[in-house]
Amino acid sequence: MASNKEPSGKEPSGRKPWVNWVLFLATVIIVFILGIFAASIVERRSEAQLYFQMVHPIPEFEPRNYIWGENFPRQYESYVRTMDTTFESRYAGSTHVQYLDRHPEMVIMWAGYAFSFDYEQARGHYYSVTDIHRTLRTTIPQPATCWTCKSTDVPRMMDQLGVGEFYNSTWEELGSEVVNHIGCQDCHDPETMNLRITRPALIEAWERRGEDIRQATHQEMRSLVCAQCHVEYYFRTGDRYLMFPFDHGFTAEAMEYYFDSLDFADWTHALSRAPMVKAQHPDYELYRTGIHAARDVSCADCHMPYRREGGIKFTNHHLRSPLADIAGSCQVCHRESEEDLRNIVYDRQDKVFELRRRAERNLATLHLEAAVAWEAGAVDEEMEEILQLIRRSQWRWDWVAAANGYGFHSPAESLRVLGTSIDMSQEARVLLSHVLARYGVNQPVEIPQFNTMAEAQEVLGLDMDEIRRRNRVFLEEVAPAWLEEAEAREEAYPHIQR
Ligand code: HEC
Ligand code: HEC
Ligand code: HEC
Ligand code: HEC
Repeated sequence: MASNKEPSGKEPSGRKPWVNWVLFLATVIIVFILGIFAASIVERRSEAQLYFQMVHPIPEFEPRNYIWGENFPRQYESYVRTMDTTFESRYAGSTHVQYLDRHPEMVIMWAGYAFSFDYEQARGHYYSVTDIHRTLRTTIPQPATCWTCKSTDVPRMMDQLGVGEFYNSTWEELGSEVVNHIGCQDCHDPETMNLRITRPALIEAWERRGEDIRQATHQEMRSLVCAQCHVEYYFRTGDRYLMFPFDHGFTAEAMEYYFDSLDFADWTHALSRAPMVKAQHPDYELYRTGIHAARDVSCADCHMPYRREGGIKFTNHHLRSPLADIAGSCQVCHRESEEDLRNIVYDRQDKVFELRRRAERNLATLHLEAAVAWEAGAVDEEMEEILQLIRRSQWRWDWVAAANGYGFHSPAESLRVLGTSIDMSQEARVLLSHVLARYGVNQPVEIPQFNTMAEAQEVLGLDMDEIRRRNRVFLEEVAPAWLEEAEAREEAYPHIQR
């Protein structure tokens, strides 16, 4: 009956017949596309497996990056890009920056210590050996411990000499052995390419905390490989053994407590005579106090994002400021525009910079005023508490200032620690003004003025011409001889003949 049939000629399903055909064809196309995807996934898996099959097996202590690179050309090529020194951001980057020019107060704050000669911004891993040759800080005798975070030759030499003996050598003694800059061997097991820890100081620090670093998760390892070097450390008095002071925790206060309980000082300040501790880039520790660490975001997530090349996904080994590749780094997790993200970073860094400048102006003044108090006749008992405050205030300033990234890794913690630093330096200045008054020194105290690194170095009476001359002689005569010796020996490396 006509009333039974749909008036518009539709099938009982309610669809027009051509709609079914469209659905059928669409399904065929989707299945076809899925098939292509599946095939390419299988293909990529086998590609991934392929490139884990070593073209050349790598011996245990192979220090030469280009030899690892024969097996892993993509990682190697991206790694070699760490030689690029062009990227510059508001506060960081890979260019030559003399920090002492930017912050001349630091020359005064490090009086009596080699950091007052020269302190340059870090560059890429490609330059680690070059830059320790270049710095004026190595114009005064250093222990071999200084090589520890510079080169893939370090694990090899530690194996050869024993760890204690390695640290107990002088920097010069190992100069012709340590020639390959930071690389594959530092972070990877040559057999499995798994991430691994090669530096004993980190393993030992974990042991003293009652933890086994071998139990670390894969995600933790993506930060711990960096924590072999990007941490606070010190050379143990006497045997120069490299130590990470994490026994009581990772905060500025926990480490300060550690150093205090050992009565440890890196040097005695030449002006204030305070027993000082120099902080050394506590990047990992500061990062641990921040939101990204709390959310399990690793150093590698931001500094070594994945890249794609011809359908293959691999880890970008061009380690540098993530601001050079916000799309590859931050935007994997954040939806804001590149410009927004850059400004978020700059905004946090600007605030850290503001408090940091206040802290260092206070501290430089304090050292100079303390020198005036000593000259006026102050005695130890009067100065004791002031010197302790100077030590603590500068340690806390340095804990933030020496960490890379101008506080971005943990902005709130950076500002908190700088706040305590400023509080302590102000307290010291109040106490010092009482001492000065007792010796009839008029306030404000007359202290030398300086606006540049060179002027500040003049205040200290440093003979910078002589220091630069020594470095020139080293670079022209000693360093090339070390490299020649290493090249001549390369054929005969016991461990790495192929
Ligand atoms: C959430 C992302 C993120 C994480 C996680 C992270 N960083 Fe950074 N890092 C940054 C940013 C952003 C900067 C600032 C770069 C700039 O100012 O150009 C920076 C700066 C640095 C710098 C200085 C770079 C330069 O150009 O001078 C170093 C070194 C560094 N980080 C090491 C580490 C280490 C080591 C870890 C892990 C312990 C880590 N970072 C974790 C984002 C991150
Ligand atoms: C500072 C530490 C570090 C150095 C140095 C380093 N790598 Fe890596 N590498 C990593 C990290 C982190 C990953 C990511 C590993 C993961 O998440 O499984 C990685 C991953 C890899 C992978 C696995 C595939 C991939 O791309 O994710 C290969 C292969 C590799 N690196 C080769 C090399 C080679 C070759 C060198 C030397 C030219 C080198 N690496 C130097 C830290 C390092
Ligand atoms: C074996 C020690 C060592 C390890 C391991 C190491 N670094 Fe470094 N890193 C250094 C040294 C030393 C420099 C400074 C090199 C120079 O200035 O010549 C540096 C420089 C850097 C820079 C500055 C680069 C630039 O162009 O401004 C970044 C960023 C960085 N490292 C991040 C990392 C991250 C992230 C890891 C872990 C995946 C890591 N590093 C592992 C020792 C190390
Ligand atoms: C692997 C994922 C991941 C990457 C990569 C990453 N972040 Fe984050 N970020 C997070 C998470 C998760 C949080 C915490 C969000 C929350 O809990 O609300 C966060 C929080 C933040 C915050 C707010 C906290 C604060 O300190 O004020 C800022 C800003 C931020 N990220 C900036 C960046 C920038 C800039 C980069 C690149 C250099 C970056 N992030 C890279 C995951 C990531």
